[in-house]
Amino acid sequence: MKNIETVVVTGGCGFIGTNFIRYLFEDIKFKGKIVNIDKLTYAGNPENLSDIASKYKDFYIFENEDICNIECMKEIFRHHNIDVLVNFAAESHVDRSIYGPQEFIHTNIIGTFSLLEAFREIHKDKRDILFQHISTDEVYGSLESTGYFSETTSYNPRSPYSASKASADHLVKSYYHTYDLPVIVSNCSNNYGPYQFPEKLVPLMIINMLEGKNLPIYGDGQQIRDWLFVKDHCSAIWEIINNGSIGESYNIGGDNEWSNLNLINLLCEVVADNMEVPSINYKKLITFIKDRPGHDRRYAVSSDKLRLELKWKPIMSFYEGLDFTVKWHLKNIDWLKRIKTGEYLNWIERHYANNYK
Ligand code: NAD
Ligand code: TYD
Repeated sequence: MKNIETVVVTGGCGFIGTNFIRYLFEDIKFKGKIVNIDKLTYAGNPENLSDIASKYKDFYIFENEDICNIECMKEIFRHHNIDVLVNFAAESHVDRSIYGPQEFIHTNIIGTFSLLEAFREIHKDKRDILFQHISTDEVYGSLESTGYFSETTSYNPRSPYSASKASADHLVKSYYHTYDLPVIVSNCSNNYGPYQFPEKLVPLMIINMLEGKNLPIYGDGQQIRDWLFVKDHCSAIWEIINNGSIGESYNIGGDNEWSNLNLINLLCEVVADNMEVPSINYKKLITFIKDRPGHDRRYAVSSDKLRLELKWKPIMSFYEGLDFTVKWHLKNIDWLKRIKTGEYLNWIERHYANNYK
């Protein structure tokens, strides 16, 4: 895509959306306008971007809205003369989707549908635009110990979260085939880095270590994920927006498979390395708890298409990325403290109380 002047980001106050907006302004030195549409669920935090909002005040617009509201989305798209929409907004935590799938169906499926409909109307008058849909490798299901997900692997989602994301991906593709809407879908592996909501594995383990609490590992801890530093995900998305082919899917991954248990052991070492005098043997905090229902055993994506066709590659090594993330948490204890209030504590208490054996 050429001449991108206005980017609409949905879910920009969440983990990856925040990093993406920061990446555009701070790393790419993007000179256009970014409109961030976020409903501010428990996972959305406008404070993540408060410095950006003042530093780039003529170029950053925040719309506190729900993507499920079609009329409102049409209004925003018309008003801002959109070039690219990057759809991050979603309910994103697998464990929450097991307890309460309804919000996942609503936001992830109906919300994506509503954005597509609003976008379709704008598309009537403007051709050179793009709907970049952000999805996950979890839509492909679970692997045994060998093999990789490629863009042609059949979808086989197994949690309400991944089923809702798979459904949204299909809708997005259907709008390309049926209405000629310019769309691209990207399916990324597990991200880690600054601003991740501390219900997810990496930040949860870091804060539990800092507080001397148990490190809860589901089942036997031998489940495998492919980890990617969030800024590398952002650079891949920007590459795809600029040079990807319309109507295609691109897998994004780090070629970086770790079992949960090995990852936690490494993270214990990284946290210890960041302490002047480590007062605790963090590894002793590891506690095996009841497994997640339907827990997918292994995810591993091949991002050969992206690497070969668009020449993208991740920059951050795993140790450095974890070290950066730990240092970020140590510097941002106040950010953590503000998140760790009512709703968050209720979730953690209810979820883990049910799961300790
Ligand atoms: P997140 O939960 O941290 O953030 C989601 C954001 O969306 C929040 O700011 C929330 O307020 C907003 N939101 C939720 N419902 C909304 C609605 N109805 N209207 C407007 N805004 C709404 O999620 P994340 O980890 O940043 O993930 C972003 C996207 O990337 C998701 O689509 C997720 O499926 C996908 N993804 C995430 C990962 C990962 O490892 N985190 C990996 C691959 C793909
Ligand atoms: P998570 O961060 O929830 O991402 P996803 O389920 O989307 O992969 O979890 C990553 C892995 O860590 C997953 O296999 C589940 C496991 N896990 C634990 O073992 N303990 C925990 O407390 C959490 C949150 C996750």
